Amino acid sequence: MVSCVVLAAGKGTRMKSDIPKVLHSLGEKTLLGCVLGKCGFCQEIIVVLGHGAEKVRSYVGKRFPKVKFAYQKEQLGTAHALMCAMDQVSGDLVLVIPGDMPLVERDSLLKVVETVRSGGYGAVLVCRLDDPTGYGRVILKDGKVAEVVEETEATPEQKGINLVNAGVYCFRRDVLEELLPLIKDDNSKGEFYLTDIASLMFERGMGLVPVEGKPHEGMGVNSRKQLAEVYRVMSLKKVEQLMDMGITVLSPENTFIDEEVEIGRDTVIYPFVFIHGKTILGSGCVIKPFCVIKDSKLGDGVIVNEHSVLEQVQAEDGVSIGPFARLRPGTVLKKGSRIGNFVEVKKSVIGENSKANHLAYIGDATVGKDVNIGAGTITCNYDGVKKHPTVIEDGVFIGSDTQLVAPVKVGRGSLVGAGSTITKDIPPDSLALTRAPLRVFEGKGMRYFKKKKYGIEE
Ligand code: UD1
Ligand code: CA
Repeated sequence: MVSCVVLAAGKGTRMKSDIPKVLHSLGEKTLLGCVLGKCGFCQEIIVVLGHGAEKVRSYVGKRFPKVKFAYQKEQLGTAHALMCAMDQVSGDLVLVIPGDMPLVERDSLLKVVETVRSGGYGAVLVCRLDDPTGYGRVILKDGKVAEVVEETEATPEQKGINLVNAGVYCFRRDVLEELLPLIKDDNSKGEFYLTDIASLMFERGMGLVPVEGKPHEGMGVNSRKQLAEVYRVMSLKKVEQLMDMGITVLSPENTFIDEEVEIGRDTVIYPFVFIHGKTILGSGCVIKPFCVIKDSKLGDGVIVNEHSVLEQVQAEDGVSIGPFARLRPGTVLKKGSRIGNFVEVKKSVIGENSKANHLAYIGDATVGKDVNIGAGTITCNYDGVKKHPTVIEDGVFIGSDTQLVAPVKVGRGSLVGAGSTITKDIPPDSLALTRAPLRVFEGKGMRYFKKKKYGIEE
């Protein structure tokens, strides 16, 4: 059984922040959220809390309910943090991950664990970096890690080593129980460094096996600059994968797509697009600039025009959206339907080939096929206490500036005249109108008004 211990007690002094470091955000996720999302294969996960414990506990509790917690009262170093979790660890293998390493990959975690499971005492993820500044340097002897030297303790010569410790380890639990208590705080920071376990193990013939990961996996976040760099690398990595799969991303540096998003080939993504969460886009879609799409499923050939925001939307093939559309959770757009500019839709189904092209609010509505919803139409779905449904059947034409006061139903094939307020159900094939009669007063236009009120003669 594998127990995972995530170290998240540190203050993150270098972030200069009131927020615990591991809760800093990388787009829609936090650093810690990224890490926890990768270690789901472990039978047990323990997060070590300390600085900002209550905030971190409540964040984790809501999203990862199976996670357990340990508490490190004083932040005396990474070895001390792990020690604080040991009495809760029940697995025979212990995977240790720092909470500030969002780019580590699940496959690498599995590899580190597998290396120990197949007969080792411990393994550590290492990376080769062009600029190793700030990381622990890894010194190898006979294929094992002889020592990890922290930046602050390293000689100029050691600083030249570019093989660094990613801070991700797997140990046999009995090895930790024997050696953790031997780690001392006799270094420049006066902390108990977990990295000191490397030499203790090596001296006893139980040397840590290095497992080399990709360079970006080792990137930790200690400062705001590193946070931005990690975000850049993370975004670029996803975008590059997508391009390899036949998706056009016109400006990779300016496109932000979450790891779990799936996109079909020949879809074109313009710059400044954000796609988050469990989103699936079909093939041949076009996503124009400044769109945000979250947890949505779009079919093939869907066009999302500029500045549209979609959350929990389902759109079938050939749908057209925006520019400036706001589609809220529960929006279902059937084949070939169109939602145009400044239209807001919430928890509504828009039937095949129906359209709401301009300036409308459609909430809690079921709209049939081939319906035209005119500019300025509003479903008045809320009476101040409860929400009520609107039903618009197939082939209906709703004239501009109509209010549909829910609950209300407009029967198949009906025509609602512009400017109407519909307060009761309309039977099929009817014309519905609420109009004040038009009154015309000839000769009483602007010229008359200016003279009467201001004495201006023209
Ligand atoms: C650590 C490693 C370094 C490695 C780097 C990789 C040590 C001594 N050094 O350095 O070799 O290259 O990670 O990113 O381990 N934490 C606690 N309690 C503490 C101290 C830290 O829970 O008392 C947590 C922090 O919240 C953080 C993680 O442990 O999530 C790592 O600590 P950090 O201070 O960031 O270590 P680095 O200096 O980055
Ligand atoms: Ca760090």
